[in-house]
Amino acid sequence: MKKILFTLFVFTIHQIVAQPFTTPLPIPPTLSGPVFNLNVSPSTKQFKPGTITNTFGVNTNYLGPTLLMDSGDFVTINVTNNLSEITTMHWHGMHIPAIDDGGPHSPISPGETWSPDFTVMNKASVYWYHPHTMGLTNLHVSLGIAGFIIVSDPEEAALTLPRTYGVDDIPIVIQTKLLDNDNQVQISSQMDSISMVNGEIKPYVNAPAQMVRFRALNGSSSRTLNIGTDDNRTLYQISSDGGLLENPVPLTRILLSNGERAEFLMDLTSESIGSTFQFKSYMSEMPANIEGGAGSAGHPNPLFGTDWSFMEVKVVTQTASPVTTFPGTMTTLTPFLEGDAAVTRPMELSNNAQINGETMDMNVINEVIELDDIEIWTITNVTGIAHPFHVHDVQFYILDRDNGGGPVPPFATESGLKDTVLVEAGETVRIISKFEDYADEVIPYMYHCHNLIHEDYGMMGQFTVVDSTLGTAEVLNTTVTIFPNPTTDFLNLSIPEYYDVEGIIIFDVNGKEILNISSPIKLIDLSDLSSGVYLLKVFTAQGEVSKKILKD
Ligand code: C2O
Ligand code: CU
Repeated sequence: MKKILFTLFVFTIHQIVAQPFTTPLPIPPTLSGPVFNLNVSPSTKQFKPGTITNTFGVNTNYLGPTLLMDSGDFVTINVTNNLSEITTMHWHGMHIPAIDDGGPHSPISPGETWSPDFTVMNKASVYWYHPHTMGLTNLHVSLGIAGFIIVSDPEEAALTLPRTYGVDDIPIVIQTKLLDNDNQVQISSQMDSISMVNGEIKPYVNAPAQMVRFRALNGSSSRTLNIGTDDNRTLYQISSDGGLLENPVPLTRILLSNGERAEFLMDLTSESIGSTFQFKSYMSEMPANIEGGAGSAGHPNPLFGTDWSFMEVKVVTQTASPVTTFPGTMTTLTPFLEGDAAVTRPMELSNNAQINGETMDMNVINEVIELDDIEIWTITNVTGIAHPFHVHDVQFYILDRDNGGGPVPPFATESGLKDTVLVEAGETVRIISKFEDYADEVIPYMYHCHNLIHEDYGMMGQFTVVDSTLGTAEVLNTTVTIFPNPTTDFLNLSIPEYYDVEGIIIFDVNGKEILNISSPIKLIDLSDLSSGVYLLKVFTAQGEVSKKILKD
């Protein structure tokens, strides 16, 4: 009896991981700005033998292109939704206006194109984009909508670091997934049983015998990763979510929860060509409160409580001008000072996927923050499981962690800028940030658990950043926009949805009413007007705003 069971078990495992490390790691194509076009479409991908898997992809059949941006660039991203359902697109980690952030309040209808534009203000690091539709985030990400954003800046560019994309600078998004017997993506449970890197199950990657940089993203729905190699090599972490660390931090394990990124260097200079090693997630070393951690030995899920390999590295010949040294000091970090904080805000991660005892409600603004304030958020996890806590709009510093024994400084790898932090069961983590540059009275940013199952369940809240020194008239004036101006025929009028529009009238220079637009339309036809100056007035329940139009 025992023997039969054993045979069956081996057979099952072989089916799941047929011939590991024989497929090369796919490297996502890159797009450069200032205009990026992203087409989100239904597709299919042959992940493993058997039925082809239905997927969603961005410009490709699974995942999306890597967007290359320079700090200071003004970029426009056209996101076209070719799906037959609503989606959204969020720029995870980017410091941008709330209206461009792509949270649940910016749905893109089927057939529609959404075009946020913003100035890149982040520091050099790796960020990512993914949908953020209320209740549908996990499904859309699991089906394949996600991609990297690599931001460069002069400080990082001045360092001797590997940066030949896909050669010695390798982006890896690690995801776990559950495919049903028919190879279709399932998201209903936490039973992910296979791993993928850049959408390939157990790939191998060629890495030249020199300094190699990996940019790792945990793009899984709910699994935390504890990354190391099968021969316990030293990984030198050089950046956290939002920028460089001061110095490379040597480690043998990199803990990466959902949504977190880490860039690390590996010194392969003295490796023999053709040698191999494997990357693994050492889950047996993780406490039981982290999903898939220890304490689940014997669990039928092959990724639970075990140390599982997800990629093999094959060492190949050096490139033409290899980087062979480590950088010294890379940056100077200047964390905000506790004494400068205007507000301390409690964030309790509560049971039943709640924050501060509340479930996400699109119509409730949970927190209002004054523009330019420095705030400390005290995140307390009173549940029995770990949650990765993510804040939109800002990068933050971790002040301290307290797992019962009193506050201790964050890990060295967490001393830099962060947008997501893993808070273990029973732990309290204090973070500090400044909410600067962008205020919006109405459109909120999100904070939430980045375990997508929890997020979809409502473990999320909303905050607005307001500039209380601005009057309503000024707010109206900056949020109601017209273009092109001057115009020859059509005028695009954009009025944020939250204003109750009572009338739109165009007057000539003598104050005579020329055009009364009864319904708040977006596109106004001015082709019948003679050239000259006109005045557009928008009347709303919240106030009125005038815009001068130049008709050519
Ligand atoms: Cu990566 Cu609110 O998300
Ligand atoms: Cu959670």
